[in-house]
Amino acid sequence: MCLVAVLRGLVLKLLMFKIAVFTPCFASHAHAVQPFCHDDESSALLQFKESFVIVHTASRYEGAYPKVLQWNSETRNCCSWDGVECDEQTGNVIGLDLTSSCLFGSINSNSTLFSLRHIRMLSLADNNFNHSQIPSAIMQLSGLTHLNLSSSYFYGQVPLEISNLHKLSYLNLSHNYDPDTREKFLQLKNPSLKTLVLNLTRLQGLYFSCINISSEVPGLLSNFTSLRWLFLENCELHGDFPTKLFHLSNLQVLSVVSNKNLAGHIPEFHERSTLTGLRLANTGFSGRLPSSIEKLESLEKLHIGSCFFSGAIPHSLGKHANITDLVLYENNFIGHIPSSFQNLTQLTILLLRQNKITGSIPPWLGNLTKIEVLELSKNKLEGPIPQSVSKLMNLEYLSLAFNNLSGFLEFDMFLNMKSLTNLELGCNNLSLVFGKTNTNATRSKFKSLELAFCNLIEFPNFLRYQNELELLDLNGNKIYGQIPKWMLNTSVDTLMALNIGRNLLTGFNQQSTVLPWVNLRLFEVSYNMLQGPLPIPPPSIQLFDVSNNKLNEEVSHCFCNMSSLNAFKLSNNNLSGMVPHCLGNSSTSLSVLSLGNNSFHGVIPEICSNGGSASSLRLIDLSHNKFQGQLPRSWSNCLMLEGIVVSNNQLVDTFPSWLGFLPELKLLVLHRNGFYGVIEKPKVDVDQFAQLHVIDLSSNNFTGLFPSQYIASWNAMKSIESNGLKYMSVEWNTSLTKKYGISGFDVYEMTICQTTNLKEISDLFGKLKALRSLNLSNNMFTGGIPSSLGNLTYLESLDLSRNKLSGNQFNSFDASSFEGNPGLCGDQLLKKCATSSSSPSPFPSCEDDGD
Ligand SMILES: *[C@@H]1O[C@H](CO)[C@@H](O)[C@H](O)[C@H]1NC(C)=O
Ligand SMILES: *[C@@H]1O[C@H](CO)[C@@H](O)[C@H](O)[C@H]1NC(C)=O
Ligand SMILES: *[C@@H]1O[C@H](CO)[C@@H](O)[C@H](O)[C@H]1NC(C)=O
Ligand SMILES: *[C@@H]1O[C@H](CO)[C@@H](O)[C@H](O)[C@H]1NC(C)=O
Ligand SMILES: *[C@@H]1O[C@H](CO)[C@@H](O)[C@H](O)[C@H]1NC(C)=O
Ligand SMILES: *[C@@H]1O[C@H](CO)[C@@H](O)[C@H](O)[C@H]1NC(C)=O
Ligand SMILES: *[C@@H]1O[C@H](CO)[C@@H](O)[C@H](O)[C@H]1NC(C)=O
Ligand SMILES: *[C@@H]1O[C@H](CO)[C@@H](O)[C@H](O)[C@H]1NC(C)=O
Ligand SMILES: *[C@@H]1O[C@H](CO)[C@@H](O)[C@H](O)[C@H]1NC(C)=O
Ligand SMILES: *[C@@H]1O[C@H](CO)[C@@H](O)[C@H](O)[C@H]1NC(C)=O
Ligand SMILES: *[C@@H]1O[C@H](CO)[C@@H](O)[C@H](O)[C@H]1NC(C)=O
Ligand SMILES: *[C@@H]1O[C@H](CO)[C@@H](O)[C@H](O)[C@H]1NC(C)=O
Repeated sequence: MCLVAVLRGLVLKLLMFKIAVFTPCFASHAHAVQPFCHDDESSALLQFKESFVIVHTASRYEGAYPKVLQWNSETRNCCSWDGVECDEQTGNVIGLDLTSSCLFGSINSNSTLFSLRHIRMLSLADNNFNHSQIPSAIMQLSGLTHLNLSSSYFYGQVPLEISNLHKLSYLNLSHNYDPDTREKFLQLKNPSLKTLVLNLTRLQGLYFSCINISSEVPGLLSNFTSLRWLFLENCELHGDFPTKLFHLSNLQVLSVVSNKNLAGHIPEFHERSTLTGLRLANTGFSGRLPSSIEKLESLEKLHIGSCFFSGAIPHSLGKHANITDLVLYENNFIGHIPSSFQNLTQLTILLLRQNKITGSIPPWLGNLTKIEVLELSKNKLEGPIPQSVSKLMNLEYLSLAFNNLSGFLEFDMFLNMKSLTNLELGCNNLSLVFGKTNTNATRSKFKSLELAFCNLIEFPNFLRYQNELELLDLNGNKIYGQIPKWMLNTSVDTLMALNIGRNLLTGFNQQSTVLPWVNLRLFEVSYNMLQGPLPIPPPSIQLFDVSNNKLNEEVSHCFCNMSSLNAFKLSNNNLSGMVPHCLGNSSTSLSVLSLGNNSFHGVIPEICSNGGSASSLRLIDLSHNKFQGQLPRSWSNCLMLEGIVVSNNQLVDTFPSWLGFLPELKLLVLHRNGFYGVIEKPKVDVDQFAQLHVIDLSSNNFTGLFPSQYIASWNAMKSIESNGLKYMSVEWNTSLTKKYGISGFDVYEMTICQTTNLKEISDLFGKLKALRSLNLSNNMFTGGIPSSLGNLTYLESLDLSRNKLSGNQFNSFDASSFEGNPGLCGDQLLKKCATSSSSPSPFPSCEDDGD
């Protein structure tokens, strides 16, 4: 992400540690006398070494190795040890570089490290200090000019004692955090950032990224005239960023990215500046980019994506001859792409995604031949895609999707762009035209092709030869007929060959004219008019969406071999037959199984039957089919299940109380099946169905009372805060979707709460504050409407029709909500309430106990 920082870091590292790393090998050639180290220092180092264990996973850098392994008491001259640097005159240890040395263990103030009083450079970065605090004894190393304790699992408050290291010019405490959960381990609260740095006025490089600082950016930093690199990324900073810092005379890189609550604006610049990198992305910065930004003559990287900038992109930005990265996405920029940009000949990254940029794509763009990534999607660009784009031979990623681009587009213009691997053109008004030649000699080898809503009527032939394709999105076109054999023709033989291994595959290719897409991970052709059998993707497939077509025939057993399958979406087709039961065996990766609205029959496959806890299934939708039998009991092992939709089938079963322990279950729709019998009280006194937002039991054969214990435990519906009143959404495969920016949500607008043949409307419903829709229609409810329903402030629809209710109705819903209850009275009903005094409450009480 931060190339400047990395490069600078390398340069600095060379400056700092060149001698430390190389002297031991070459010192004898370079100098007549090698310094001889002091006994106390070498034994201090050996003791320090002994206080750790060597664990290779303790360092993440791939070139990491345990430098201390070759330290030993026989070679007593510690000055020759790897990572140790001595003063040439005195022999004192002045540098210790144990970066990426696989050290694991705790460290405290008793460590012999702190007896190395002459040390100036210390790096313990990229080891694992097992959540130790940074020892306060660090203050004893008062000669330190460079201190690198980044990425090393230090924990807790940064000690005040660091502020005594007056000579520090480089301080890196970044990235002491959990790389998986992103939990920050270090904090700077007491002392605060301000107190800590107050006396560190010689700082040139300050790197505090991923420390929980949670304060304003101290204005006193503007007095730190030596400061060149200031990195405060993801520090939970807030307040207004002091604009004076932009004017620091030696500042080269300023980065405060990912501080959502940090506000600020970019000031006018009156003097030339040395700034090469300005990184403000993902913060609350707003306002316009001043025209005087041209004074930042050395600017190479401007990263201000995901902020609140507005206004036109200044023409003067085109004067930064050295600019390589212009990252302006997700702001509110308006106007055209400035014509001055044609002078930005060094540009490699231009990201303008998701702004309000108008006008057309300028033909001169084709002159910016260094461009590698060009993202203009989600703007208001019009007109054609200029042919000159095809001159961008270094372009790897081109996204023009979601604009108003129009016209006929000769797609062949992209087929000669040898670097182009990712192309997104969808959701414009383009009509793609493909050359007639059956070229297999295209220079482009796409990895990702997004051509949704591009008015295609057939699968473009060039795809035959795109054997490196990983993602193909052809949703929402007008492709009709069968999916051609050459496309996903992975026969059983092919699958076997693929499973046996790539070596065999090579042999396989030579016989076959067409290579199957062995790397395909995403295949989306929903909303077309495809017919015929279901195509068989290669085993690499992760997301397979052929929903909303007219595919028929049965689901092949081959799908059982697709061990990476994550989302399997076949809904709204004419598929039939049984769903292969082996699908359940390979279900450890499956997260969305969507088979709704087909003609499947037979028993529902067991899923999560083996190693259930590993199963990632989150949503299963089998609605509108002809499934028979019971719900598979193995589902109780699918611990991540959020939604079960089996409505409109022929299932015959009792109430699945055994699903009550699924911790994430939000949606349970059993509507219109043969579920029957009395719903038993929960057997144990533990909250069940605690996350449930929607339960639909309507049109079944349940009898008796609905146990109020269940309602009492529907915590998710009760607590508005905890679920933020969001409709349920199921997210599939975030890694895939993040990388390619494809929207990964299936939103179920569910919110129906129906019960059947229940004799009371429990007063407890009134506690379900988050309930959005209540439908108790077509039942035999008796008694009155409990007044507690008046507390359902988020209720959007209410249907109590066709029951045997009596008493008063609520005025805020119209009469149709209540019709068919001869005992009900109310203003909107034919029968007015004679006795009840109308109260000002929207839900006047017509008291009863509900029983
Ligand atoms: C500071 O540490 C972080 C995390 O280890 C690293 O990515 C960065 O390059 C370091 N910065 C410098 C200038 O060394
Ligand atoms: C500090 O440590 C990090 C993490 O290993 C490394 O990337 C960076 O280059 C180091 N900085 C210096 C100046 O050595
Ligand atoms: C790491 O910390 C844990 C918990 O404090 C402790 O039990 C363990 O012994 C430590 N390991 C080492 C190698 O210091
Ligand atoms: C440091 O050493 C002293 C004496 O050896 C001991 O009392 C103390 O507990 C040690 N401190 C830590 C943090 O281990
Ligand atoms: C900063 O330096 C001043 C004067 O040298 C001293 O009085 C003060 O205690 C120091 N503050 C910190 C936080 O070290
Ligand atoms: C900066 O330094 C000047 C003079 O040295 C001092 O007057 C001023 O208060 C300092 N500013 C901050 C914000 O500390
Ligand atoms: C642009 O880059 C070149 C080559 O790195 C450098 O010599 C020149 O000084 C830079 N221009 C500015 C204005 O910084
Ligand atoms: C591009 O740069 C040249 C020379 O620096 C300048 O004359 C010209 O006006 C610039 N073009 C635009 C469109 O800014
Ligand atoms: C862009 O390239 C064309 C030729 O390919 C040339 O005529 C034109 O002058 C170039 N424009 C700029 C601004 O360099
Ligand atoms: C591609 O075309 C060349 C000739 O242009 C031909 O020799 C080769 O067999 C073709 N390859 C495939 C896979 O069709
Ligand atoms: C419900 O029960 C009735 C009466 O026993 C029966 O006729 C009907 O078929 C059942 N409905 C379902 C969906 O099983
Ligand atoms: C409605 O909510 C209020 C506040 O939570 C509560 O005091 C009141 O008893 C509730 N009314 C009913 C009828 O449940």
